[in-house]
Amino acid sequence: MNMNKIIIHGERPLTGKITVSGAKNSIVALMPASILADEPVVLEGVPDILDVHALINILQIMGAKIHFAKGVLTIDPRGVKSIPMPSGKINSLRASYYFMGALLGKFGKAVVGLPGGCNLGPRPIDLHIKGFEALGADVFGDEDVMRLRTKATGLVASRVFMDMVSVGATINIMLAAVKAKGTTVIENAAREPEIIDVATLLNNMGAKVYGVGTNEIRIDGVNELHGTRHFIIPDRIEAGTYLAIAAAVGKGVTVNNVLYEHLESYISKLEEMGVQMTIREDSITVHPGRDLKMVNVKTYPYPGFATDLQQPITPLLLKAYGRGELIDTIYERRIGHISELKRMGANIKIAGNRIVMASSNELVGTEVVASDLRAGASLIVAGLMAKGVTTIHNVEFILRGYDRIIEKLTNLGADIALVDTNSISMEKVKIEERG
Ligand code: EPZ
Repeated sequence: MNMNKIIIHGERPLTGKITVSGAKNSIVALMPASILADEPVVLEGVPDILDVHALINILQIMGAKIHFAKGVLTIDPRGVKSIPMPSGKINSLRASYYFMGALLGKFGKAVVGLPGGCNLGPRPIDLHIKGFEALGADVFGDEDVMRLRTKATGLVASRVFMDMVSVGATINIMLAAVKAKGTTVIENAAREPEIIDVATLLNNMGAKVYGVGTNEIRIDGVNELHGTRHFIIPDRIEAGTYLAIAAAVGKGVTVNNVLYEHLESYISKLEEMGVQMTIREDSITVHPGRDLKMVNVKTYPYPGFATDLQQPITPLLLKAYGRGELIDTIYERRIGHISELKRMGANIKIAGNRIVMASSNELVGTEVVASDLRAGASLIVAGLMAKGVTTIHNVEFILRGYDRIIEKLTNLGADIALVDTNSISMEKVKIEERG
């Protein structure tokens, strides 16, 4: 168990500007995708998060040369070999499955360790496998390791229907198909902006991917892919998290580097609650809060309300008047934050597949545990709202996906610190001085 924790003294009014970093759910696919190139790939706007460092480590083990500084990540894949990747290296990183598509597409074989279950409930990869087999690969494996190999003919294009809309499967099949012989069609494809971002990188490397952002993607296989430079899209989930914080405890907060079209359904829900915002081309200002109205939320694949934002918005909902309910149609078991919010005084409970909430006039800080990335984000929002001190444990989950969140919130006036209880080093010694 890691000994880092986040300590928040709540009820501070936040004001100022906060800038969103590059999208985690893009970079975790763009990095494996880069090994498909025969020359170096330069990625810009890369967030400094634990998932990036985990993937750098894996790429280096595979033989890639890496340089990462000031948000610019250069990956030289020319030394990469398709070596079996040990599960141990991958334990926390579900997105390691993108190496299946990238290695299959590049070398025609892959051995990829898979992380165990995760706190959102079962997260199968049957649709990824259906796509690889449709392209002519043989796939063997168990819950720990997947072994994939193409037949002598190599990968051959195919038409594959996604039984469920899946971000990961859509991207993974795209990675395998860009060098397959012929035209591959992915039907019922996911439409998330991160998929468009990956396709943009691939096309700038010389691939022929059409139709991303719609539910039918066509890929004409090519023989080789060259290097390129690519700027990552902003992280819409990080942006949504900061908009919730701004609405909950802000006294005038501007979120920079946010694309309105990536958050339309989320912003519409905030407006339905009565949150006052000024929306510009790449920034949104949240004006000091008025009384908020409780609303009902249901998550859907993009462009619907994102499942990743149901946990971060929940503390804000608890501040609103009335009763409401939230249904996550993507992950029914995405409830790791509920027990912790209840311990902070939230009037919230689970009824079947619904999360039922009523206005909880005051949350009170206490010791809480992050069970996954967005549950952890939810606890930060709640801690900033709560009376007294909130201590969040298992913060590695949060640092996986939120670039410099402590620094960014501190700059808005939050009293928040990352404390390494293993040593005396603390990000803010004043916590000790306060005693
Ligand atoms: C991506 O996960 C994101 N992760 C998740 O964000 C996000 O919650 C999810 O998409 C949904 O938007 C990354 O992009 C790295 P899916 P992914 O395949 O691709 C089922 C975060 O907090 N399914 O779209 O794994 C699956 O169980 C993370 O940043 C199958 O049944 O999600 C789920 O119910 C958490 N078989 C639904 O489809 C499959 O083969 C959608 O999953 C694949 C998925």
